[in-house]
Amino acid sequence: MSDSFVPVARLTDLAPGEALGLEVSGLEIALVRDEDGGVHALADICSHDDVALSDGDVEGCTLECWKHGSQFDLVTGRPLQLPAVRPVPVYPVRVDADGQIAVDPEHALTGSAG
Ligand code: FES
Repeated sequence: MSDSFVPVARLTDLAPGEALGLEVSGLEIALVRDEDGGVHALADICSHDDVALSDGDVEGCTLECWKHGSQFDLVTGRPLQLPAVRPVPVYPVRVDADGQIAVDPEHALTGSAG
């Protein structure tokens, strides 16, 4: 079984409520820790305009685009309000027992199915 997870950061690099912009295998990824401590990885490009979502604010389990305020669900990538209408891709995340965070950039979970 192939393992396409790439180590990207450690849990200690990312406090709850923070987002980090990373390049993983040539993709711009926003690594986000929700306010409950869960870790998520989304494409770091707002689906409304070409700006980095990692520069936005984490609120609960959403990431708010700094430019026009659309909030994206961190689990599904779907925008919860206008002006964005298309979801952004979400990638699988693994957190190992030692706190190592890994992202699988090759297998987007959502974001392409409307
Ligand atoms: S650029 Fe993100 S909501 Fe407009």
